[in-house]
Amino acid sequence: MMKTKRWMTYKDNVKSSFRGQNAQHNHNRCGTHEDSAWLEEAAETLQGGGLVAFPTETVYGLGADARNTDAVAGIFRAKGRPSDNPLIVHIADSDQLDGLVKPYPTLARKLMELFWPGPLTIVLPVQSGALSPLVTANLPTVGVRMPDHPLALELLRQAGCPVAAPSANRSGRPSPTEASHVLDDLDGLIHGIVDGGATGVGLESTVVELLDEHTIAILRPGGITLEKLRRALPDIAVLGGEDGVSDQEEAPRSPGMKYIHYAPQGELTLVEGSPEQTEAYIAARLAEASARGERTGVLAFSESIHRYEADVKMDMGSRQKLDEAAARLYAALRCFDEEGAVSLWAESCSEEGIGRALMNRLSKAASKVIKLN
Ligand code: TXA
Ligand code: MG
Repeated sequence: MMKTKRWMTYKDNVKSSFRGQNAQHNHNRCGTHEDSAWLEEAAETLQGGGLVAFPTETVYGLGADARNTDAVAGIFRAKGRPSDNPLIVHIADSDQLDGLVKPYPTLARKLMELFWPGPLTIVLPVQSGALSPLVTANLPTVGVRMPDHPLALELLRQAGCPVAAPSANRSGRPSPTEASHVLDDLDGLIHGIVDGGATGVGLESTVVELLDEHTIAILRPGGITLEKLRRALPDIAVLGGEDGVSDQEEAPRSPGMKYIHYAPQGELTLVEGSPEQTEAYIAARLAEASARGERTGVLAFSESIHRYEADVKMDMGSRQKLDEAAARLYAALRCFDEEGAVSLWAESCSEEGIGRALMNRLSKAASKVIKLN
């Protein structure tokens, strides 16, 4: 065990540049001090081979110098992560790609111009010897992204090295969207955490691979949605799950997607169907579970949450505002664990926009999916 240092960063200029949408989650900022020494200390820790968790616009990442094999090995150890699951490399400036990757398609450059900084990870051909082989799990490629978060960008710039950073949770647990989630999983196992309050998107970045100059395959859906990609690149074929390309069971191109993920400790059942069918089904199952004496939980949209009786009710916000549901999902799953709820049901949503990523994570968190129609 080590002492995990927590750097508070609540400078006004930084605070104001966060997305406002999860202001309700930011309660743990109150009454904390601001520490302007954080940047130098956190960057030096990374440079010295240490492990530093930091906020991004998606989820908290657990960072290490991507060139340093001992440091990267520390990430796998702290997370309990299988070693065949490669890590995303984070940069603050496109110039950092020089020496890191081999010549890549013009289409990749276009994606960077359109969506960086932002929640898009692009799989590129790696320059051999540029990174620790643990980062790429010996693949010939590396996933790279430039996070859209002022603290992450400051830290990456100050550290001056490419930073490998998976989500800062113990492997299999929901990704952390608040500093307290990171500490719940990794306190005493990492050198420090930059506490920047709640993250924005709440789900991990979209991972894409370029099949050729005209075709993009989404390997993991996220904040840069299929629709956004198609709208921005009308002449490019963008393959999502429905094309059978990115669905990991068939083509495990994104190795991480085959593992159990994001799961709460209880048994979660995801229910798909019309809102009316879903409500009736979940209400009946909740009643049965309570009759058996089980502690129950439900994850539902605000349109229907009041119709359920459960020990723990997590409101995802309105069906009309799926961005909010995305931002709330992981904290809600963690809340079930804290409250000891074991029989869990979740409503589903349309797979449009961010809904696709939300349903992807929900179905991975679920031990069962019930389709009512
Ligand atoms: O939003 C995010 O991407 C967060 C924040 C911290 O940046 N990071 C994150 O990292 O989610 P991680 O390690 O939890 O997920 C990385 C995903 C895995 O599914 C992995 O298999 C895939 O990216 N991946 C990484 N390198 C890859 C590669 N070379 N080819 C295909 N997939 C890759
Ligand atoms: Mg992860």
